[in-house]
Amino acid sequence: MHTTVGIIGGGPSGLLLARLLHNAGIDSVVLERRDRAYVEQRQRAGILEQATVDVLRAAGAGARLAAEGLIHDGIELRHDGRSHRVDFPALTGGRRVTVYAQTEVVKDLIALQLADGGPLLFEADVRAVAGADTDRPSIHYSHDGRDQTLTCDYVIGCDGYHGITRAAVPESSRTTYERTYPYSWLGILADAPPVYDELIYAHSAQGFALASMRSPYVSRLYLQVPNATDPADWPDERVWDELDARLALAAEPGWRLKRGPVTQKSVLPMRSSVTEPMRYGRLFLAGDAAHIVPPTGAKGLNLAAADVVVLARALEHQRRTGSADLLDAYSDTCLRRVWRAEHFSYSMTTMLHADPAQSAFDTKLQLSQLARIEASAHAAAELAENYVGLPLTQES
Ligand code: APR
Ligand code: PHB
Repeated sequence: MHTTVGIIGGGPSGLLLARLLHNAGIDSVVLERRDRAYVEQRQRAGILEQATVDVLRAAGAGARLAAEGLIHDGIELRHDGRSHRVDFPALTGGRRVTVYAQTEVVKDLIALQLADGGPLLFEADVRAVAGADTDRPSIHYSHDGRDQTLTCDYVIGCDGYHGITRAAVPESSRTTYERTYPYSWLGILADAPPVYDELIYAHSAQGFALASMRSPYVSRLYLQVPNATDPADWPDERVWDELDARLALAAEPGWRLKRGPVTQKSVLPMRSSVTEPMRYGRLFLAGDAAHIVPPTGAKGLNLAAADVVVLARALEHQRRTGSADLLDAYSDTCLRRVWRAEHFSYSMTTMLHADPAQSAFDTKLQLSQLARIEASAHAAAELAENYVGLPLTQES
């Protein structure tokens, strides 16, 4: 089998890229190792920048997003037992974000691709990429119990942080920059209505907590926990008690979350990582395959979308004009945005979490920075601009 663009991975990056290429009249094949149900159920973040919403809408995946997405005009920051709001439109010239779960984005893109797109193969496990530095790279995968080969003009690694494409770039041709954090998140999904209108990011002596939502009936909540925490050590009541303690307000001692059945519970490690360049010959890396961020800034999905928009435009330009200029610029173009998001995600993470090794001095610095954001429109605008994201055409 041959295709113009072989896409490895059917997460948000691979699925959105396939859709953008389809709309541009460029054929592609998506190979996804998991089954459809698994990909559609995998819990991930749920904050879409306006630029991401615009891209999904332009790609034809905006209908349910427009109907069910929750538009948010700000976030709440809690610290020292009090709360203040960061008003996005006021601080960014009218920009806002949309709460719409990644699982829903993935479901919408899969439905579109299966309805009228190129092949999207589930349970197609890619084992190797060969000839990335030649004109005719190939993807070797197993499907239906058989070893198969897909030859391509271009191979795109959209296979996430644990994929195989990053390692298909020879070690001498890539550099990975990495940082780990001494904590993880315990996340729960609960059939409980959020009692808050906006997301709450809380700094507390016991550690970070985040109150998010999936709908007016479903809450998504996170607690900072030590690395390697076993979710079994966190029965539901303990999770709720700890969330209430970390989100507590001195002026409203009765403030509590609404409790309800917990439908999902898992522990997420935190890591920052960037691999440069995001290209080797005719192999291009996009999304989590090239870079990951800790989830505190809600940037992962938005970065993935930005990468594949840049890539789809470059492939289209190549097709239309015969020029590889934009493909040659792909890595540098993406990396400017990636490093901005890396810095923002790192800053949010280290400002809000309690590092088990931190001193009382470090805690005072965190609280001073939070107070600064509360007191200064300049400091708040810096957070807000990064959170709502830059327009796609602007790099950093
Ligand atoms: N063969 C085929 N598919 C593979 C292989 C392989 N060898 N290895 C991994 N995959 C698939 C995974 O099963 C997964 O569905 O690649 C997909 C990668 O998807 P994601 O991890 O969601 O990565 P990406 O599409 O880049 O989306 C980034 O996901 O992790 C979040 O916060 C992150 O929101 C961001 C988004
Ligand atoms: C989520 O809703 O899952 C979510 C929201 C904001 C974040 C991270 C995760 O920063």
